[in-house]
Amino acid sequence: MLTSLLQSLDLKSILLFLVIFLLIADYIKNRRPAKYPPGPLALPFVGNLFNIDSKQQHIYFTKLAEVYGNIYALRLGQDEVVFVTGYKMVKEALVGQAETFEDRPSSPVANRVYQGDGGLFPSSGHKWRRHRRFTLTTLKNFGLGKKTLENAICQECRYLQEEMESQKGDPFDPKDLLNNAVSNIICQMVFSRRYDYTDDTFKKIIHMMTEAIYLEGTLWGQLYEAFPAIMKYLPGRHNDIFKDYENISAFIRKEVERHKDNFDLENPRDYIDAYITEMKSGSCNPADGFDETGLVLNSLDLFIAGTETTSTTLLWALLLLIKNPDVQEKVQAEIDHVVGQSRQPSMDDRANMPYTNAVIHEIQRIGNIVPLNGPHMATKDTTLGGYFIPKGTALMPMLTSVLFDKSEWETPEEFNPGHFLDSEGKFRRRDAFMPFSAGKRVCLGEQLARMELFLFFVSLFQKFRFSTQEGVELSLQGDVGVTHSPFPFKIFAHTR
Ligand code: HEM
Repeated sequence: MLTSLLQSLDLKSILLFLVIFLLIADYIKNRRPAKYPPGPLALPFVGNLFNIDSKQQHIYFTKLAEVYGNIYALRLGQDEVVFVTGYKMVKEALVGQAETFEDRPSSPVANRVYQGDGGLFPSSGHKWRRHRRFTLTTLKNFGLGKKTLENAICQECRYLQEEMESQKGDPFDPKDLLNNAVSNIICQMVFSRRYDYTDDTFKKIIHMMTEAIYLEGTLWGQLYEAFPAIMKYLPGRHNDIFKDYENISAFIRKEVERHKDNFDLENPRDYIDAYITEMKSGSCNPADGFDETGLVLNSLDLFIAGTETTSTTLLWALLLLIKNPDVQEKVQAEIDHVVGQSRQPSMDDRANMPYTNAVIHEIQRIGNIVPLNGPHMATKDTTLGGYFIPKGTALMPMLTSVLFDKSEWETPEEFNPGHFLDSEGKFRRRDAFMPFSAGKRVCLGEQLARMELFLFFVSLFQKFRFSTQEGVELSLQGDVGVTHSPFPFKIFAHTR
């Protein structure tokens, strides 16, 4: 009967029938349940994907909250994402309902890069919990929070100072140097090695990392997330994301092979050795996922997450203190008073440097390094802010909306270290300071990042006064991919 019906139709009618059928299927698939968060009208198939201002998407998402309220839904291609905004609601999702929102949603980009469910960042459930716990313990065993790591960071600060001094007062772009210096810290913990600032192979790897992180957060990444089956076969910059990750993974696989060649069970040197020991120990079952793929993917996550975010924060530090020379002078006066010029800073100094500590916090707030956040997913049906969130819904607890929340910060749009100082000039913690997110998925490297930020920041401003070229106005807008980084700029480092 269907065959005779189709035979009686011409091509135009079949196409029309197909389009109507797809529209109805799309409508049924994306029908929103009762009490679901509101949001702008979505087009069939593409949803709201092309409404988004791809250059400053975090600003666009923040503005939508002014129209639809602090919880709203957008359809990005085939999938719905619920955006949660403002300190109170983000805290309720990440901390109040920590277990309900601890998983990550499935992502076609991550599925291709991480071959399924591996890696610290994209994985969920038992495997993620087991690997996160193992990684935190192992990083502690290899120095996190201890003097040995502090000494390694201080040594790297000396190399960085020497390299900046060798520019002899000429203008230079600090980005590659900062990336290399910061990366060397996580590389020492994961691979037991650092890379010289002149190492061209390593420079290429870092460039690929920066490019992949940038592209993932642009329209190219979003188009692949929305239409992987089509985008896979189309030319475009999304292909560079996978090429870059493949090259970085190959670089890490080489490190793993090097470790396997001279592995000594009695003397684990770093994260890779500890992971191999865990694989060999026989104490894990297959569901724990301790295998060689897991080792490469975890190392990839630590390497990437441990480089880009911290060095971008230091780039914002240079830019903001060049733009605010009075703040730079006050920081230097405190450094001179507490640390002086004859020794390197140590973490013990932080308690005596409230102004510097406040400035670093304010740089992280206004730099807004991870403007969206990592995506989360509801592990069961729940209610948030009075709205129904069905199991499996992707959730974006937006960090921009917390770091710039008008009801939490006195001057949200202004660089104001006073946000972190009380009336007596003592450092004060702020609940809405959430650049590392919060809850079960809070940044795994927070402690390491805070240590690196303090020691690199103080070492740089202890040694140099920074400025930029005459007549150049540095922009606070920045480039937005997954991270928010300053547009390229050149600095002068004047030895003090
Ligand atoms: C200033 C520096 C840093 C910032 C602003 C930052 C921020 C973040 C944010 C916002 C997340 C997502 C949290 C969520 O989904 O709720 C995250 C996750 C993560 N970060 Fe960081 N991060 C920084 C440094 C580091 C460092 C140095 C490491 C290296 C150990 C690291 C490792 C990770 C890992 C492995 C995750 C995934 C955690 C998980 O899903 O369980 N981060 N970070």
